[in-house]
Amino acid sequence: MEMKKIGVIGAGMMGSEIALAFAMGGYEVSLKDETLALATKGKENMSKSLERFIKKGKLAEGDKNKILERIKPIDNYEAIRDAIFIIEAVFENFTVKQNVFSTLDNICRDDCIFATNTSSISITKLATSVKRERLGRFLGVHFFSPASVMKLVEVIPSLDTDGEIVTSVMDLLRSIGKEPIQVKDVVGFAVNRIFHAMLIEACRLLEEEVATPEDIDKACKLGLGHPMGPYELMDVLNNKLNLEVQEILFDSYGERFRPRPNLKQRVNANHLGRVTGRGWYNYNK
Ligand SMILES: NC(=O)c1ccc[n+]([C@@H]2O[C@H](COP(=O)([O-])OP(=O)(O)OC[C@H]3O[C@@H](n4cnc5c(N)ncnc54)[C@H](O)[C@@H]3O)[C@@H](O)[C@H]2O)c1
Repeated sequence: MEMKKIGVIGAGMMGSEIALAFAMGGYEVSLKDETLALATKGKENMSKSLERFIKKGKLAEGDKNKILERIKPIDNYEAIRDAIFIIEAVFENFTVKQNVFSTLDNICRDDCIFATNTSSISITKLATSVKRERLGRFLGVHFFSPASVMKLVEVIPSLDTDGEIVTSVMDLLRSIGKEPIQVKDVVGFAVNRIFHAMLIEACRLLEEEVATPEDIDKACKLGLGHPMGPYELMDVLNNKLNLEVQEILFDSYGERFRPRPNLKQRVNANHLGRVTGRGWYNYNK
């Protein structure tokens, strides 16, 4: 299937990086946010991401503008009426996402595929936002941050997604250099379940005074080959978000995902990580 025109809804951290990943792969991308100023800010952030690629020698200076020219910030749905693939990356809230999809459903062409980048909402439940005729063309496409760099994408069919659509979307993702994996529509999909099981165990090691955060990070980097340790990662991601995800996993899977008291304590103290200058580590020193 020819899918040259892509729409991305939500120009925040994920949406702007997803738009960039498609533009780097040669696609024309319309990037929508609630205002043109927000969509344009998303594009400005992409410019900064491209500078990082250039600095690392992964992109020629001359290609930067060519990539940016493929991205059009917008604040209305008209410009994506003829898109063939649309990814939603707005706030993680069912009603907000539902409104976006039901609006898109009335505007977009019948053969347009809808994807959501949700981390925690059931794909099958979100699919109820569109009319029955489009159910086969609705699925989850879960990118990892920063989406222009991270190769993995979890592709999550709903109960009603057509197999052919899953194959087309996986091919589309491969065409921009990603490595998609197909995952069932379960809470946390695959990666967040493995990841948070590890974070929770890291918190237990600290509670039991088995080792310090520095040494646990060192253990994961030098013993397991991880590029970052769990404490460094928790601080980059934001401890409030880490706690929220673990509460969602705990609701679904019970004890094995119960958030540890030491994480709750960090959140109560506003030690959220790099964003507040203090998390498991102190960045104000
Ligand atoms: N942050 C992560 O690491 C991560 C990873 C994978 C998936 N996700 C998921 O991606 C989605 C976006 O997360 P984020 O971190 O980019 O959030 P964010 O808050 O940075 O960005 C959300 C953007 O959506 C915009 N928006 C809200 N309502 C809108 C509407 N009706 N129409 C158009 N734009 C609208 C906001 O103005 C904002 O710019 C969430 O569903 C989240 O769960 C996040």
